Formats: sequence, structure tokens, C-alpha cells
Amino acid sequence: MKINVGVLYGGNSTEHEISIISAVQAMNNMDTEKYEIVPIYLTKDSRMYTSSKLLDMDVYKDLKKIGEVATEVILLKKDNDYVLMKNKFPFSTVKKIDIAFPIMHGYNTEDGSIAGYLEVLGIPYCESDIYASVIGQDKIYQKQVLKENGIPVVDYTYFYESDYLKDEASVIKKVEKLEYPVIVKPARQGSSVGINIAKNKKELESAINEALNYDEKILVEKVVENLCELNCSVLGDNSNYEASPIEQVYGSDEILSYKDKYMSNGSKGGSKGMASTGRKIPADIPSSITKKIEEISINACRALNTNGVVRIDYLMDKKTNKVYLNELNIVPGSLSFYLWNAKDVNYKKLLTKIIDCGIKRYRDKSKKLSSFETNVLATFNGAKGVKK
Ligand SMILES: Nc1ncnc2c1ncn2[C@@H]1O[C@H](COP(=O)(O)OP(=O)(O)O)[C@@H](O)[C@H]1O
Ligand SMILES: [Mg+2]
Repeated sequence: MKINVGVLYGGNSTEHEISIISAVQAMNNMDTEKYEIVPIYLTKDSRMYTSSKLLDMDVYKDLKKIGEVATEVILLKKDNDYVLMKNKFPFSTVKKIDIAFPIMHGYNTEDGSIAGYLEVLGIPYCESDIYASVIGQDKIYQKQVLKENGIPVVDYTYFYESDYLKDEASVIKKVEKLEYPVIVKPARQGSSVGINIAKNKKELESAINEALNYDEKILVEKVVENLCELNCSVLGDNSNYEASPIEQVYGSDEILSYKDKYMSNGSKGGSKGMASTGRKIPADIPSSITKKIEEISINACRALNTNGVVRIDYLMDKKTNKVYLNELNIVPGSLSFYLWNAKDVNYKKLLTKIIDCGIKRYRDKSKKLSSFETNVLATFNGAKGVKK
């Protein structure tokens, strides 16, 4: 019997459209002999739609018209099954879901929100759990955890909007200790949104104001000079992580922009996400650096306890060959399929491995106790029983 895989995508995130691209690509590459693919599209205002028509990229040209081709549903537990049910009378079951596969990027989705939602429902799901996802999304938490695990990250500092409003001068002073040039980032965004380099105080103030449009938590890092950007994907779970070949990515500007990542052939409407950025696989780097990056990547996945596929991005100073882990993406654009292709793992095989990891975690977790047989409420004795 086929496994029904509910692919969740879209959602209330600045990377909504990128999620649609990643998910439609993935759904069209899943092994249809093993899986029945059930698209579950979340609109920007969190309505849920399903239809086999959602496998076609053309239906997303006008997002307001999704309701004309797909059925609005809710995901819930009914008897012992997880089902998509029509949200209007008559409330009939549209599809059964055996496992959810969220392919969502960014704030409100990839940041643990969707993993939390699926945990509360109790439905098995693929990719990383809440804990890894939260740390994956918050660039500051991530640096703190990685540093604690001996992984090289660039020097950084951070502050909240309230600190800046209260005492702008002391925030600027703290940042300037890093020495210009610095790079200012909203802590919990992605796709280069709101990120700018500052070479002096005036540029710093403007970069901070720009970043504050997106988040109240701001990260400022030292800029890595003579920049070479390298990415490595990791697949598996804490019992067995495997690193992909390393890619070298090229942008058209000082920093890899949203345009570089997703619109390099956008004028023809053919964006492929990170899969279309200028790149070289394998990267033209000494084998000692390849080995080092593979090792750091696996250690970083262990530190966060990731599950499924992730992509880890590095910044290297070409003059000194010093490598820094820039960020770990919990749900990478295009699920990094092009990196696995280079290792003879085709997209179909990659998706099967991710689903297998999700099933394994669900089975392992089901063996752990999550409740006690004794019902404390049966002997609850009013205020006397309240824990002090
Ligand atoms: N410390 C840094 N030094 C130099 N360039 C950087 C630095 N941090 C980020 N960049 C550039 O900015 C881009 C986006 O930053 P990143 O932290 O990866 O944010 P996002 O989550 O939006 O991808 C990177 O791909 C790189 O080109
Ligand atoms: Mg990045």
C-alpha cells in the first residue's frame, strides 16, 4: 500500500513564493510507486487547500485564485487517522495523511512553528523537529550553540530594537568594537531580506533602520573579506549523518542577494531557487578544506540534532583560507537536490531518504514515555494538592 505524504508549503512567511517553488519541484520528483502525494498549500493568511492540480506551477500565477482550483480543508485527527477534511458542510474527508512533509522556508513556518503544530496534532512528519528548527531560524541562537560546540563563526554582537530606541549611542559603540566593515542582519529572516553591509557610522545607522523593518532582534557581524561562499548539505539523523559534495556559489554583488538566489533567470519566469545561482560543484578548494568543511558540517548537525536534509553555508577568506560557518538552513531551498545529484543520489532517492528519516524518528519517539499511567487528577485534593 502506498504511503500518503502530505506536503505542506507556502504559509505566512516572506519566503512564501520560494516555498511554493521548492515544494512543487519536490512533489514532482517523489517516487509515485511508493507514495501518494497530497499537496497541502497554506495561504499567507493560513488557509489550507488541497488538489492534485496544485502539482502544476501555473496555478500559482495568481495566488488569489487558488480557491477556484483547490478545496479548502483542515488537517485533523479522526478516529485513528490523520485526515484533510473539507472545512465547509458537508464536512467530508478529502484525503488521509500518513506523514507530513513540510517544505516551508522562514519565519512563522520553518522556525519550529510548523513542527510544533504537527507535534501538537501528533502526526508523523519529516525534516527537523522544533528544537533544531528554532535554532536554525534564529541566527543569534545558532551562533551561540555552534560556538559552544567549537565550530568557527565570525565575530558578532546583537541587540534588540528596544535597546536601540533607549540608547542608540551605546548600541553603535558596542557594534563599532567589531570595526568596520560590518554586516547587519535581521536575526530571524532569510533570503538576504533586510541585510546590508556598513563601512561607516552613517551606513550603519541606515542598515540598522532597514533591518528593523523586518525584526526587533538584530545581528551585526564582522564582514569576511576576500569572500568565497561555500555550501555543503547534510542528510540523515544523529545515528548517521552524511555530507554532500561542496559547492562554490557566486553572486553578482557584494552579498548574495534575493535576486541572485531566486531571480537569476526570473525575467523568463523560470526561477529554480538556489538551484539557479551561479555555482561550481565540487568547489575549487584544497582537499584539506573540503575535509574540514565536511567535518564541521556533521558536527553542526549533531549540535542542533537535525533530521532529514539541511544546507550549511560557509564564508571563506580566500587569502587566509580561514573558514567560518555562516548559517545552517533547516529546510534548504530546492532541498539542495543539486548537491546530492553530484553524489549520485537523484532527487527521487533523496526524497525517499528524507521520508525514511521522518518515519524512523516517529517510531523511535513512540517508544519513549510521554505520559504516566497514574492520573494525578483522580486524587487531586483542591488547593492542598497545589505544588508550591
Ligand atoms: N559576515 C559576512 N561577511 C561577508 N559577507 C556576508 C557575511 N554574512 C553574510 N554575507 C553575505 O550575505 C548573504 C546573506 O547572508 P546570510 O546570513 O546567509 O542570510 P540569509 O539567511 O538571508 O541567507 C551571504 O550569502 C553572503 O553573500
Ligand atoms: Mg544564507
